Amino acid sequence: MSENYDIVVIGGGPGGYVCAIRAAQLGLKVACVEKRGTLGGTCLNVGCIPSKALLHSSHLFEEANQHFDTHGIEINSPKVNLEKMMARKDKVVESNVKGIEFLFKKNKVTYIKGAGEIVSATEVKVDLLDGGEETLSTKNIVIATGSEVTPLPGVEIDEKQIVSSTGALELSSVPKKMVVIGAGVIGLELGSVWRRLGSEVTVIEYLDRILPGMDGELAKQTQRIFAKQGLEFKLGHKVTGAKTTKGGVKLSVEPSKGGDAEEIKADVVLVAIGRRPFVTGLGLDNAGVELDDRGRVKTDEHFQTNIQGIFAIGDAIAGPMLAHKAEEDGVALAEMLAGEEGHVDYGKVPGVVYTWPEVAAVGKTEEQLKDEGTDYSVGKFPFTANGRAKAMESTEGFVKILEDKKTHRVVGCHIVGPAAGDLIAEVVLAMEYGASAEDIARTCHAHPALGESVKEAALAADGRAIHM
Ligand code: NAI
Repeated sequence: MSENYDIVVIGGGPGGYVCAIRAAQLGLKVACVEKRGTLGGTCLNVGCIPSKALLHSSHLFEEANQHFDTHGIEINSPKVNLEKMMARKDKVVESNVKGIEFLFKKNKVTYIKGAGEIVSATEVKVDLLDGGEETLSTKNIVIATGSEVTPLPGVEIDEKQIVSSTGALELSSVPKKMVVIGAGVIGLELGSVWRRLGSEVTVIEYLDRILPGMDGELAKQTQRIFAKQGLEFKLGHKVTGAKTTKGGVKLSVEPSKGGDAEEIKADVVLVAIGRRPFVTGLGLDNAGVELDDRGRVKTDEHFQTNIQGIFAIGDAIAGPMLAHKAEEDGVALAEMLAGEEGHVDYGKVPGVVYTWPEVAAVGKTEEQLKDEGTDYSVGKFPFTANGRAKAMESTEGFVKILEDKKTHRVVGCHIVGPAAGDLIAEVVLAMEYGASAEDIARTCHAHPALGESVKEAALAADGRAIHM
């Protein structure tokens, strides 16, 4: 049995490593157990960071390929060196991952490489990566084990021809024809990467819309933009099976509401129909930790499971499955365990799709406001009327701000446009402070900047946009 800890965190992703660092900063003795061999979890190793590296590289290629000419830059047609592009992506991942090891050392978090299993509310057994076993004794356990790809029955992932997001970040050549199953965040981001690099991409989506959960008008406009870029959408269809041959994959596809099946061929198929909490082999039964009806670890608002001293955060519990939400959970829990206050408002967690243009949202959609019967006003401003966007030759999209007419608080913001993922931050802050659209409108915004579109949308909520 090894030394006593205040907290043993199982999982070194954005939820777990941030929780460990914050708790250590507050003077607690913390160990973080991670089985991957590197810190950073799905996000840094095979998710957010490598996908953003490829999204940026492929965006630059598309700019050079299609848009340089508009700017008066003449080049011979550019070529993709995929090996080099992938190597750069790997370097980006490596430097991020190493950065966390440094932060652990700096903050005196003990990093234990291995798979953790809960033995009891005060003991975690670690199957060490280097061999052997160690049992850690602790006052508190934090489950931060994240999520895994939701499998699609009949479509078995081999990470070569039928890939998950992990395999789609590692392809050794540009597929001629790619089918993406699921028009969610992963499908649109990685579908865009491979389309830009030269694949013919079809996105098959079960529902009759893309980006479910996001504002309907935002999703419609986004679909129009992506279709113009060359992504093909087959909405209202489901994939019921896949046959893999040397020459490619044959998919059986049917209308979601029933009807004749058809066969669609592809060189590579990406399955992106969602993720589910990962809790396998964690020993939850040993301690009697309960799951909810969707397989998530059940917690109260203080991240406490049904067992005293065992907590859970991030993708493993309820709430949006996003790295930054997991980080917020981690910080709030660390502060509570150190005797301070902690709270995360899931209603103010921004969501971003890192395509070009980007898509970003926070708070309520128009559909949600209608459903709950809230009387609201809409302020909308298109990027076509923004000077900076024009100068950038990136005028597609809009900012939409939703304000509750009774309380005058901003209750939602939906953006598709250049740098939407950064623009949304202002509105998240405004919502945290309970601001009105007028508060945003009366704040001086630099000119010429994309952020002026947020200000103009706020003005428009009051019917007084200047540039429209
Ligand atoms: P998702 O939940 O965003 O989208 C899955 C899509 O697949 C949905 O539109 C759903 O209707 C569709 N679908 C489900 N079953 C289907 C079927 N049998 N046939 C056709 N379509 C089907 O899930 P996704 O894109 O896999 O992402 C997983 C998680 O990772 C999400 O929670 C997402 O938020 C997160 N993520 C976030 C990123 C970001 O913040 N930029 C980037 C990548 C992932």
